[in-house]
Amino acid sequence: MDKIRIALIGYGNVGKAFADMLLRRADYIRDTFGTEPVITAICTASRGACIRPEGIDTKNLTDDMFDSGIDAFGVIDSGEYDVMVELTPINIMTGMPATDHVRKALQLGKHVITANKGPIAWHYRELRDLAKEKGVCFCYEATVMDGVPVYNLAQKTLMGCKITEISGILNATTNFILSEMERGVSFDDAVEEGRRQGFVEADASMDIDGWDASAKLTALMNVLMDEEITPMDIRRTGIGGVTPEDIRAAKAQGKWIKLLCRGWIEDGKPVGVVEPTLVDEGSLATTMEGTASYVTINTDLMGGVTVVEEPFEPEIDHTAYGVLSDLIRILTDRR
Ligand SMILES: NC(=O)c1ccc[n+]([C@@H]2O[C@H](COP(=O)([O-])OP(=O)(O)OC[C@H]3O[C@@H](n4cnc5c(N)ncnc54)[C@H](OP(=O)(O)O)[C@@H]3O)[C@@H](O)[C@H]2O)c1
Repeated sequence: MDKIRIALIGYGNVGKAFADMLLRRADYIRDTFGTEPVITAICTASRGACIRPEGIDTKNLTDDMFDSGIDAFGVIDSGEYDVMVELTPINIMTGMPATDHVRKALQLGKHVITANKGPIAWHYRELRDLAKEKGVCFCYEATVMDGVPVYNLAQKTLMGCKITEISGILNATTNFILSEMERGVSFDDAVEEGRRQGFVEADASMDIDGWDASAKLTALMNVLMDEEITPMDIRRTGIGGVTPEDIRAAKAQGKWIKLLCRGWIEDGKPVGVVEPTLVDEGSLATTMEGTASYVTINTDLMGGVTVVEEPFEPEIDHTAYGVLSDLIRILTDRR
């Protein structure tokens, strides 16, 4: 049987969840595409890499299978894969080293999937054009709203529509904190509760200061509106300055405070804004409780189309599915 060989650059929460989901859907891939999916390389920062051209049994992966002398570029150069999956931590300020990983794999004529939004927020157009030149797929569904089909929705099912505006709640952590504050919980206690539940990081500043939301809005504008901006171009205000008094004052006017993202074109130039915004009680934004998120894509021919990501357990499966759906897209395209 034909094989599709996969190299995972990064094997943390998402990498492990994806490897597990791939096992659960291997029969489906074999039956639908006549292809055997095999993970042939796994790379980490601390342990180095494990490369096995015959395939890795991820259920029985042990430290002694890793070679500490091989790094991400060693794996990418090895060529023992058809699809490189970029799953290293994001550097929102530079998009590196993920962009270099993606660029190198594309230059070698490999398909690339990334859940890391850095490359899309910083170098999307260059990487898209490189993939086209090499005749390979460059997929990134998990970079915004995990496996919810945002890019696929626009690229595959809203074909012919021009996207005029993108808006929504794109950061789960800040939405959780603001939802808790609506219930009378203090900012610090809400952050602590998020940490206890495992989705607020030790250093939550990238979320609280609006950087994560800005990177996601940038990624959406670059891909769906064909812009060439970076997170630095977004007018950004985080939620650190939102006080219980602000929430109470908003409530008195029948409003809630939400961290809204909005991107549009003005006088031919892209404008992106992330800021705490007053929204009417009962509006779509106020129905996003806890870690829920949504995006509305406004188009010239179809008006607004909205997708919602509802909380789900285990949450990491949403992201893993985003990566799996990209793999299936590659298999579909090469049929
Ligand atoms: N977690 C989510 O819910 C989620 C959702 C959407 C998108 N994402 C994105 O998906 C990516 C992965 O997230 P995650 O939660 O899986 O992160 P994670 O748990 O921190 O895992 C990151 C992995 O990358 C490895 N790594 C770090 N630097 C590396 C390098 N230079 N070369 C090779 N490997 C390197 C780490 O090695 P060690 O094992 O040695 O530390 C680890 O295995 C991130 O970009 C994140 O923004 C995550």
